[in-house]
Amino acid sequence: MSQTNVLVLVGSLRAASVNRQLAETAVAVAPEGAEVTVFDGLGEVPFYNEDIDVAGSIPAVEALRDAAGRADALLILTPEYNGTIPAVLKNAIDWISRPYGTGAVKDKPVAVISASPSGNGAQWAHEDTRKAVRIAGGKVLEDVTLAIGGTIDKFGDRHPRENAEVAQQVADVVASLVEATKQLVDA
Ligand SMILES: Cc1cc2nc3c(=O)[nH]c(=O)nc-3n(C[C@H](O)[C@H](O)[C@H](O)COP(=O)(O)O)c2cc1C
Repeated sequence: MSQTNVLVLVGSLRAASVNRQLAETAVAVAPEGAEVTVFDGLGEVPFYNEDIDVAGSIPAVEALRDAAGRADALLILTPEYNGTIPAVLKNAIDWISRPYGTGAVKDKPVAVISASPSGNGAQWAHEDTRKAVRIAGGKVLEDVTLAIGGTIDKFGDRHPRENAEVAQQVADVVASLVEATKQLVDA
């Protein structure tokens, strides 16, 4: 495989989202051999409902499933809402978990990064995201545990990609996804 395609899902829809900026950082620092793309349409994906889950019927869902299906690996960026995973992100995981057994996330390497202004770096959302992805059939990189806390003090008004330590940590996560994808191909 010449190139690993990594799709990034971001669990915050707000324009100035730090998690979105960390996703942009992943794009900026992607190592050679990795093509990292941020999925933009999560806000348009309706709440999961088996009644409306008819192949080809909802463009926003098709776009998500197509992008996830084309990806070799997924990177998920999440804040924490009331101690757990934001609804928009859980909804996306639900959509790509279906059809049961053949959803777009099935058997794909998935890494999670979380970030929040609090000290624990959205650790609970991080853990809950990993659990949901695991149950959805993704191959969660369990040893990738990047949880970035204190984001207001750490970044201030500056983009996280300007923070060399964080940029390196994000690059390491993307490199782990590339490596996990190669191991799957070689297996
Ligand atoms: C509804 C809501 C619930 C929140 N709950 C938590 C929480 O449980 N733990 C936490 O660390 N931060 C919590 N926050 C603060 C978010 O972590 C903070 O807004 C963060 O910047 C969101 O990430 P973003 O910058 O990517 O949008 C909450 C924010 C909102 C809007």
